[in-house]
Amino acid sequence: MKNEVNRREFIKRSAMAGVGIAVGSVTLAEELQQKLKTPVKPVPVSKPMEKVRIGYVGAGGMGTAHISNLLKIKGAELVAVCDIVEDRVKRAQDMALKAGQKKPEGYFKDEHDFKRLCQREDIDLVYTATPWEWHVPVCIEAMKNGKHAATEVPAAYTIENCWELIETSEKTGKYCMMMENCNYDKIEMMILNMVKKNLFGELLHAEGGYLHDLRAVKHDMNGEGVWRRAHAMKRNGDLYPTHGLGPLMQCFDINRGNYFDYLVSFGTKTRGLHLYAEKKFGPDSPQSKEKFVLSDVVTTVLKTFNGETIVLTHDTSSPRPYSRNIMVQGTKGLVRKYPDPKIYIETEGKPDAWEKIDEYMKEYEHPVWKELEDASKGAGHGGMDFIEDYRLVNALLKGVEPDMDVYDAAVISAVCELSERSIKQKSTPVKFPDFTRGMWKKKRELHVME
Ligand SMILES: NC(=O)c1ccc[n+]([C@@H]2O[C@H](COP(=O)([O-])OP(=O)(O)OC[C@H]3O[C@@H](n4cnc5c(N)ncnc54)[C@H](O)[C@@H]3O)[C@@H](O)[C@H]2O)c1
Repeated sequence: MKNEVNRREFIKRSAMAGVGIAVGSVTLAEELQQKLKTPVKPVPVSKPMEKVRIGYVGAGGMGTAHISNLLKIKGAELVAVCDIVEDRVKRAQDMALKAGQKKPEGYFKDEHDFKRLCQREDIDLVYTATPWEWHVPVCIEAMKNGKHAATEVPAAYTIENCWELIETSEKTGKYCMMMENCNYDKIEMMILNMVKKNLFGELLHAEGGYLHDLRAVKHDMNGEGVWRRAHAMKRNGDLYPTHGLGPLMQCFDINRGNYFDYLVSFGTKTRGLHLYAEKKFGPDSPQSKEKFVLSDVVTTVLKTFNGETIVLTHDTSSPRPYSRNIMVQGTKGLVRKYPDPKIYIETEGKPDAWEKIDEYMKEYEHPVWKELEDASKGAGHGGMDFIEDYRLVNALLKGVEPDMDVYDAAVISAVCELSERSIKQKSTPVKFPDFTRGMWKKKRELHVME
C-alpha cells in the first residue's frame, strides 16, 4: 500500500514537473520506468455467464446508440440506467420496454448517482458513455463494487488516471475495457486481416487520426459541445487519439510483442473555433470573446520499440470532410483508406499504381464482419458500433477475454497527456510509461484474430 501511494505521488510530481522542463521530463519519465517494479497481475478470465446484466451510465448521444444495440443483443439485459438528465433516463427506459425487456431502474439524482447503480447486486457490467471526466470515476466505482467496467473513449486523459484504472483492475480482478468502435470498422478490420496475413510484408509506418469538423458541435450549448469545448479551452494536445490509433495498435501488435517507446507532438496556431464564432454569432458576441488553447491541427509522431513510426493527427476545428486518415505501409506495399480505400502491392510487370481495395475484399474481408454484417445493419457508424457491443457481451457470455484489456486502454489513452506535455515542452520527445511492466514483450494473439 505504501509503495502504491509513493508511486502515485511520484507520478503526480513527474507530471507536474514535466510542465516547462524540456529535458527534465524525459529523465523523470525514465526514472518513473525504474520505479515500476510491481509485477503485473492480469485479471483472470471471468466465468461464462447465462446473461450479462448491464448498468448503463450516460444516456446521451453515444450512450443511447449503445443502449439500442445492447437491447438487440441476445443475452444482454439492461438492468439500470443513470444520467443526470431525467428525460434521458426515461428515454432509455422506454427503449427497453419497447424491446420487450423489463423497465430498467432509473438513477438521476445527481452527478454521483452512478455510485448507487454500481452498488446493486444484480449487475455484471457497468458501461459508461459520459463526458471524458467521468470515465475514470465510473469505472473505478464499478470495479470496486465487483463489476466489470467498459467505457467510451478515451478511457482516461491523465497518466495518473491510466495507472489508477490498471491498479484497480488488477486489485479487484475485474475487467476494464475501452470501447473503441473504429477497431470494428469494415475496412479497418480488413486492413488488420491483410497485415496479419503478411500482405504488406514487414510493417514500417502508418498514419491515422481524428479529422472531424466539430466547430458547430463545440459551439452548441445543448449536447456534447458543452464539455468538448471546455477541454478545448484548457488543453492543447491530441485530445482524442483512439479512433485513429486503436486499429493501428492492433496492426503493430502493441502490448503483444511491441510497445510505444516515445512520441513527439506539434500544434499549430489556434484559429478555427474563434473564426467560426465570429461568423456565426458576430464579432461582438460573447462566443467571439472566448479563448481556446487547443491547436487547430495537432500532429504526433509515435515511435515503437520494433522500429516503426506512426503519424497521428487531431484536427477538429477546421472546415474539412471527415477522415481518420488510415494508412498502413510495409516492405511490400501499402493501403490508404481515405478519401477512397486504395491499395498498392508491388508486383513484377505491373505499373506502380493504386488499385481499388474492393478487388481484395473476397480474400481479405475479416471473418468477424462476414459473421455480423447482416446483424449490424442500421446500427451507428456503419454497423461497427453494434459489432463492438456484440463482441463485448459475447466475450462475457462465453467466458473468454474481451478484445481490449486495461493495458490497451491505458497505453492508447496515455497519448492525451503525453502529447500535451510534448507540446508544452516545444515538441520534446516524451517517453511512454510501461503500463505492462515488461509484459508487452510476450507475443499474444489478438482475440479478434482467433
Ligand atoms: N466512439 C464514438 O464514435 C463516439 C462518438 C461520440 C461520442 N463518443 C464518446 O462517448 C462519450 C459521450 O459522448 P456523447 O457524444 O454521447 O456526449 P453527450 O453529452 O451526448 O452524452 C453524455 C451524457 O452523459 C450524461 N452525464 C454527464 N455527467 C454524468 C454523470 N456524472 N453521471 C451520469 N450521466 C452523466 C449527460 O447528461 C449526457 O446525457 C464521450 O466519451 C465521447 O468521447 C464516442
